[in-house]
Parts: sequence; structure tokens; C-alpha cells
Amino acid sequence: MRKVVHDVLIMGSGLAGLRAAVEISMRSRGAANIGIVSKVQIMRSHSVCAEGGTGAVMRPEEGDSLELHAWDTVKGSDFLADQDVVDRFVQASPNEIRLLEHWGVPWSRREDGRIMQRPFGGHSFPRACMAADKTGFFEMQALYDTLLKYTNFKRYDECFVTSLALEGGRVAGLTAYDLGGGEFMLLQAKALLIASGGLGNLYGFTTYSQTVTGDGQAMAYRAGLALEDPEFLQFHPTGLVPSGILMTEGCRGEGGYLRNRDGERFMGKYAPKMMELAPRDIVSRSETTEILEGRGYPGPGGLDYVHLDLTHLGAERINKRLPLIREVCMNFLGIDPITQKIPIRPVAHYSMGGIEADIDGRSKMENLWVAGEAACHSLHGANRLGCNSTAECLVWGGITGGEIARYLQLDPALSAAPEAALREEESRVFGDMLQRSGPENPAKIRRELQVLMDQHAGVYRDGESLQQGLQKVGELKQRFGQITIHDKSRVYNTDLTQALETENMLDLAEALLAAALARKESRGAHSRLDFPKRDDGHFLGHTIVHRTGSAPKIEYKPVRITNWEPVERKY
Ligand code: FUM
Repeated sequence: MRKVVHDVLIMGSGLAGLRAAVEISMRSRGAANIGIVSKVQIMRSHSVCAEGGTGAVMRPEEGDSLELHAWDTVKGSDFLADQDVVDRFVQASPNEIRLLEHWGVPWSRREDGRIMQRPFGGHSFPRACMAADKTGFFEMQALYDTLLKYTNFKRYDECFVTSLALEGGRVAGLTAYDLGGGEFMLLQAKALLIASGGLGNLYGFTTYSQTVTGDGQAMAYRAGLALEDPEFLQFHPTGLVPSGILMTEGCRGEGGYLRNRDGERFMGKYAPKMMELAPRDIVSRSETTEILEGRGYPGPGGLDYVHLDLTHLGAERINKRLPLIREVCMNFLGIDPITQKIPIRPVAHYSMGGIEADIDGRSKMENLWVAGEAACHSLHGANRLGCNSTAECLVWGGITGGEIARYLQLDPALSAAPEAALREEESRVFGDMLQRSGPENPAKIRRELQVLMDQHAGVYRDGESLQQGLQKVGELKQRFGQITIHDKSRVYNTDLTQALETENMLDLAEALLAAALARKESRGAHSRLDFPKRDDGHFLGHTIVHRTGSAPKIEYKPVRITNWEPVERKY
């Protein structure tokens, strides 16, 4: 087993991870020794796929305000966001935009030279700072360029983390499989940041890259930490049919319409004021209702759809503001959105829940922080507003980076390597998992899991179907014990990493379904046909899920309400 030691490890190299690495480097003046561990090449992190923009209040003199951004976020969350967290977020995000400006993001500009901001769903002011429709790509480039000014970090690309190594109630480091070298590794550190992204591949129809499998969440969950609010899974209203590729909300921010098969702009029935720019939970439910009531189009493989119509926007606007959207439509479907309507439907896009963390991003383990989509700081509650996610990654990348830099100044001890546990983990991966020789195919189990999540934990849910989903996940878990991985080699064994991912996904699916079954109300993205109303009397609380030897243990903790008492959401 190869062993390496760093002051701090960052698991994940997306926006949150890179932003934290920059912050730690700046604060420590390049002295903190950072290891960045990623299962992909660093710039293939899913953050590069972020399209529409990053939310921040940049123009108070034109009518926007921090209070308005906070209110929009709290109302959008269906009152499940912790309001002190929201306040901190809206105060910090404008500075992140200015930092990225200094670090080289080529923001789209208005005529007067100021950063362009487009309207986004649920925001009462145009707030999404944008670099055309490739915002995440440019933000990642700028962050990595900035990090390259420092020499205190080492990249571990294509290095698959298998577990948190624990010693005395703290994190001693990470165990990992280095794909290129074929070795098992212990990466030791005094502090750890998990910033490994979301879990969208639990679903078959998803905007996520194939790599987004919730590994960080699953590892933390297995290590005894809680998952918070996992039932709140966001369906973005405009996933391209049949691939699921994101058609950015920027399309509607630029003025795009949603139409049913009668050509009707149906959002007028559901959200007459905000129309297509209502929050995502509402737009996704509206589309689903249109489709279920027969006003959609039949799509391939049951992916029935409605239309995103940009044809009235004109070639110049589309080419300038939405070039990626046009390119994707032409390359994947052979249609040109300048003249043709785009087939779309709700698509799994974002997890509001994650590893339980406090307002500083610190987990319940003293030397472990979490940031980005892997975390639940309780910013988004039951439904996130568009463009608040990249902003969250930047804000909590910065906050956790600062906290970790401060922690390292206290000169904490490096925990001893837990030798017995390490040997056990190595033998779990290269012994048990790789050498299993049962009749089951792990790729088939993964696919079946995705199909069942699409069917049982979608836009609309009900108790019976969630219960059936849970039972099916239990059966898949049993079958997973009987898999065979046919490739037995050590070097670049993607059969092995995909099996490890699938095991992670099974645990997370079980937690999501159990939490969804327990929450007998409808709130934000969690919409139960058998409990169609929000029930503040019983469920104005965050779900806390712990892993046990049997069923997940579910508890609730209070929401922090500082400014706004819950009221009915109307748009
Ligand atoms: O539609 C989009 O561009 C996605 C943005 C987001 O999820 O915040």
C-alpha cells in the first residue's frame, strides 16, 4: 500500500474543491500542503457543465438587494432553508463574482461594460452572472489558472477514493485506488474537505455526467455521518429528450417559452405571474401534469415531452447568449433552435440534501468539512433556485478553505494510520469485490437502480410506490452481493470503479427513498400525491438520516427561522 501525507486533502476538483484550494493557498501564503484527489482528470469535473449563470446581487442601485435575494431563496426553498445560512450566502456571493472577475472569467457584458445578468427562475431580479451559456467551464478555468500560481498542491487525478480512514473519531485520511498505477493508497492528512459533487446518476434520465455517483456522501454515510434532507431531489424542467442534456434555464431567462402539443404556453395556468420563470419544482410539476393529461408528445422509451420554444428569440440572440444550446441541439438531435422547437421534459439535476454540515461547512467530525453539492448547509431547503448552486460552491469553497487554513494554523496532530482498518478496506476492494464470482452483473444492477428511481422517486411520488422502490433497492443490494467483475486486472479497472460506485448509489438510493417515504407532506421538490399539502405542523424540519445495520434511521431537526415565517408560496 502506497502512503502519502498532506496537511489537507480535498476530495473533488469541481468549483467548490478548486475554490477551497485557492483559499487555503492564499491564506497560508502557499505553505499548506494540499492534496487534490479526483476520480477524473481535474478539468473533467462535472462543474464544467454548469451553463446558465451564478447568482449574486450586483446592482443594488438598479433595484436588487441582498434582502430580496434572501427572500427569493427562502420562498423558493418552501421555507426549509436555514435563514441565517441564506443571509450569509447572499452577502458573500457578490464578492465571489468580483474575485472571479479578477481571476479572469470572461463574463458576458452589457452595453455599458458591466457584467451581464440574466433572469432565472424564482428570482425577482436578473441575478445570474453569465459567461454566455458556458459559465461553469469558464469559472473552472479561471480557478485552476489561479491555483497554478501556487506550487503547494499535488493532484491525484483518476484516483478513486474508496473510504474515509478513521482513527479516534477523526478522519485520518482517505483510502483510494489509483487507477493508473493499479495501487491501493492511503492519503493521510490533518484535515479533509469533501467536495465531490452530487449523486444524479441514481436516476436514468439525468443532466449529470456518468461520473456523478455520490461517492463522497456514501462514504461519509458509511463512516457514521448523517445525510440531511436527501429526499429533496431537484428535477430541472428542461432536459433534452432523449439524452437528458441540460437545456439551461438561461433559455427561458432569455425569453424562451414552454408549449404543450396544442401550442399553448401552459405555464399561464400554473404560475401566471412568473410563467416559465417560476421555480423549478413548480415548472417541472406543470410539465409533468401536461404530459400526464395528454398534452405532451410521445417520446422514445416513454420519455414523453413538451416543447421549449426559442424560435421567436432570433438568430443573433441565440448565437450570442446560447451558443452551446444551439450546438448541442444540432449535434445531438439535428435540430436548429433558431427555427425549430426543442423536445424537453423534467430531468434529475441536483440534490438539495447532502452530508450534514454547519454554517461553516464543518461536519460532525472535528477535522472534516464539506462544500458544494455533496454538502447540506441547509441553504436550499426543499427546492433550490437556479444559479444559486455555482454560487454556493464558490461561497462555501471560500468559507471552508478559510476555516481549514485557520485550523491548520493551530498545528493539529496527524492521526495515526488505522492499520487494521486499512488492510480490511484493501481486502474489501481487491479481495472481496474484485474476486466475487456470483451470477449477477453489476452494470445491470446499476441500470435497474436508475430505472426504479425514475419510476418510484420522480417528480410526483406516493407512499405505495416509494415503499415498492425501497423494497426493490433492498433486493438489488442482496443481488449486489452476488456480482462478478469480469476484468480482474489492477490497472485502470473501470469495471471495478463502476461496481464501487454502484454500491455507493445503492446506499444513497435507500436513504433517499426512506426519507421520502417518511416525509408525509408535499414541500418543494418532494411532491406526494397522497399528502398533497405542506404540513408545517409536523414537517417543518430537516430530515437527518443515519445508516444502521438494517433500515436507515430517520430523525428531524428544526429549521432556523430568523426573518420570515412560512406562508403559502404563490408565483
Ligand atoms: O439551467 C441551468 O443553467 C442550471 C443552473 C443551475 O442549476 O443552477
